Amino acid sequence: MELFDSHAHYNDEKFENDREQVISSVKAEGITKLICVGYNIKSSKEAIKIANKYDFIYSACGISPNDIPQTEQELWKDIEKIKKILQTGDKKIVAIGEIGLDYYWNKENAELQRKAFLEQIKVANDNDLPIVIHTREAVSDTIDILKNKIDVNNKGIFHCCPLNRELVKEALKLGFFISLAGPVTFKNSKNANEIIEMIPLDKLLIETDSPYLSPEPLRGKRNDSRNVKYIAQKIAEVKQMKLEDIAKITYENAERIFKMRK
Ligand code: NI
Repeated sequence: MELFDSHAHYNDEKFENDREQVISSVKAEGITKLICVGYNIKSSKEAIKIANKYDFIYSACGISPNDIPQTEQELWKDIEKIKKILQTGDKKIVAIGEIGLDYYWNKENAELQRKAFLEQIKVANDNDLPIVIHTREAVSDTIDILKNKIDVNNKGIFHCCPLNRELVKEALKLGFFISLAGPVTFKNSKNANEIIEMIPLDKLLIETDSPYLSPEPLRGKRNDSRNVKYIAQKIAEVKQMKLEDIAKITYENAERIFKMRK
């Protein structure tokens, strides 16, 4: 069985001491494709470096809502840097992300977050890339941007999608993919089953968001892509399907959205 982890951060400092070791055990355990995702300039460059070192790793670059600079001027500079990175024509950069809105951690710069999100969607459109969306406590503004402010050419993914019925409904209506992570396995995620049932198989992805959000039964420990099987397992249980089938379907969906060939 092969699995595709659609979102992990091997560029995070938590992997500083054993990155190579973890990455090789991940591949040995059947995670044969994964996306290493950036969240600011430095981590985006690091993600690209890692993707170029391992054949089965691809990268996404972008500035997350929690990493946007203090001023608009600095934001433009960062966005220019992202554009420059893309001009290198690196074929292993397969998405712009993670980008989006986060009013849980930062609300006072909401306006600047919306600007950063919108501008980076333009960059994705110009480069014919899908987007990886991070959204937290910002359902209506996120949907408003995607619905009314800009056409997203390559749609994209709601990464570690909040288990919010309204958000999932609107995201699906707009043609986006939903990527589920550790929280669907948490015992206190009351509506996880309902959300899993809502998502059609052809819009479903799985991810770990490593090193964060370890699924049950490993909650609290450092996460890595090997644990993506727990997400697939949970989905298989709820949809009453075989684990192998969920693995295959989510693998092919990810290849489709990131425009990869096996
Ligand atoms: Ni992430």
